[in-house]
Amino acid sequence: MIEIHGLSKSFEERQVLNNLDLTIKTGETKVIIGRSGVGKSVLLKNIIGLVRPDSGSIKINGVDVTRISEKEYNKIRMEIGMVFQGGALFDSMTVGENVAFVLSEFMDLDQKTIQDKIVDALALVGLKGVEKMMPSKLSGGMKKRVSLARVLCMEPQIILYDEPTSEVDPIMADAINNLIIELRDKLKVTSIVVTHDMNAAYKVADSIAMFYHGHVIADGTPDQIRNTTHPVVRQFIHGLAYGPITEDENLVFGHVK
Ligand SMILES: Nc1ncnc2c1ncn2[C@@H]1O[C@H](COP(=O)(O)OP(=O)(O)OP(=O)(O)O)[C@@H](O)[C@H]1O
Ligand SMILES: [Mg+2]
Repeated sequence: MIEIHGLSKSFEERQVLNNLDLTIKTGETKVIIGRSGVGKSVLLKNIIGLVRPDSGSIKINGVDVTRISEKEYNKIRMEIGMVFQGGALFDSMTVGENVAFVLSEFMDLDQKTIQDKIVDALALVGLKGVEKMMPSKLSGGMKKRVSLARVLCMEPQIILYDEPTSEVDPIMADAINNLIIELRDKLKVTSIVVTHDMNAAYKVADSIAMFYHGHVIADGTPDQIRNTTHPVVRQFIHGLAYGPITEDENLVFGHVK
């Protein structure tokens, strides 16, 4: 469903994505892991066209979206929902208006249908009765769930989740993970989930890809990743300060000899 080939993206001097290849099969949940700043969010933004790559291709249902016009891209975007890392809500709109934004702007639906969809989507993320609230009154985790509700009411074929469970409590995180699994199993949604939470990764993933130095260094089932002998992947999944990953950051801070 999504085939990424040779994708590269630099910002000024810094090469973030470097000849990256990644395939997401129809109906699968692909989890992406990797250190902060490795380019996980940049990849998702490339897929929805918020950031354009320097080179490479991104095929969505066979269409290379790096080569199409904005107008053609907009049609494809209607099938892709993205849950943004920070929620990306409009501060001047109520929660309900945020959730219904795409429905009211781009779809020909009556008010009653829109209201019903808002209520259903908010209920799915455990947020009943907050339609009239302003985003500034919500906690970080609530904003994230509103962002998820906004995606759910579009009923997209593809959902890109950027750290859906960061900032939410462990119980809510588990509920969100269950929802991700349910969307795959019941609605056959194809998903990419970026997460730092390895428990969530093992739970929701059909496959897990690790990014390092701008490309994928490992891609396998949760069991393959859990049992990997690759030293970089092992260090990352076990969260160890000591190992082959040391560059760029002073990981030995606070070490007393
Ligand atoms: N619009 C932009 N302009 C310039 N640099 C950018 C832009 N977007 C991202 N970057 C840079 O690209 C790199 C990768 O950023 P990205 O947000 O993809 O990291 P990430 O893997 O999602 O990290 P985290 O786990 O912290 O969310 C960072 O060095 C970041 O500063
Ligand atoms: Mg990110």
